[in-house]
Amino acid sequence: MASPLRFSGGALELLDQTRLPGEEVWLRCEEPEQVADAIRRLAVRGAPAIGVAAAYGLVLGAERFEKTADLLGSTRPTAVNLRWAIDGGRAVYERALGDGRAPAEVLLEWAEGVEREQAEADRRMAAHALALFAEGSRVYTHCNTGGLATAGSGTALGAIEEAWRSGLVGHVWVGETRPLLQGARLTAWELEQAGAPFRVVTDSSAAALMARGDVDLVMVGADRIARNGDVANKIGTYALAVAADRHGIPLHVVAPLSTIDPDTADGAGIPIEERDPAEVTSHADALNLAFDVTPHDLVTSIVTEAGVLEPPYEDSIGLALQAQSLT
Ligand code: MRU
Repeated sequence: MASPLRFSGGALELLDQTRLPGEEVWLRCEEPEQVADAIRRLAVRGAPAIGVAAAYGLVLGAERFEKTADLLGSTRPTAVNLRWAIDGGRAVYERALGDGRAPAEVLLEWAEGVEREQAEADRRMAAHALALFAEGSRVYTHCNTGGLATAGSGTALGAIEEAWRSGLVGHVWVGETRPLLQGARLTAWELEQAGAPFRVVTDSSAAALMARGDVDLVMVGADRIARNGDVANKIGTYALAVAADRHGIPLHVVAPLSTIDPDTADGAGIPIEERDPAEVTSHADALNLAFDVTPHDLVTSIVTEAGVLEPPYEDSIGLALQAQSLT
């Protein structure tokens, strides 16, 4: 399993995902500014991994907590796991001060716990998702949602790999994911290591593959899920959902409860990151939307560590969050 980060010798080391699959280069971050820079330029990416990296970033900047929290919180707007980690870190920091303990030490214990809990959530999501596959399922996935994106075993891709090991996957279609090719570079790299059968396709091939009858289900991750089940994920997910709906193919979202934003009622309230046009083309001006919102009525189910949530999401999400707050 590919791990995108490790905390060692007082520094956060990040596997630079911008260099994969060609080179495996580790970046050593001793200051939170370096972590913020790595998150901004997608050296570390994927909603849960961003949350874990930010948790360790707070450890590095514990002496100036609020400044560090602002800096890390400003890096990427859509993945709510970032805000979730910062809010969690703030509560830990304040408790440490109250107890007269060194904040950096307490924050490190907490960040290690965040990483462990993500790995456990990934395992549970994969186990719950098995029920969504049939023998020989041909799955279409988008972006990268494997271990690289979570610091565990992954969300959607972790579930696909588990289903593959259980003999339930016949083939994986990997959308290349323009413009930064998280599918063609990172998902392909992870599936190769898992030994699962896959082919990379251009994003614009998806509907044609569905029309040919070559796709049984679509499985993707999420960067933020609103209370009503609207899902923000990598740009292109909405188009996939529309095409899947047209062909009667289920679209399942796999995401931990930390990706659900109880403060956002629906997709209209989710901020969508716009990135540098130069990532799209150097020859013309471009609009580079990093994410889109898939309306909840195009989402067949949302797989979380608490189980498979089904419509109406307002109810199933509410119950899952309520149950979590009681544990
Ligand atoms: O811009 P990225 O690469 O951070 O976008 C990642 C995605 O959109 C993933 O699908 C999402 O974060 C879920 S990752 C488990």
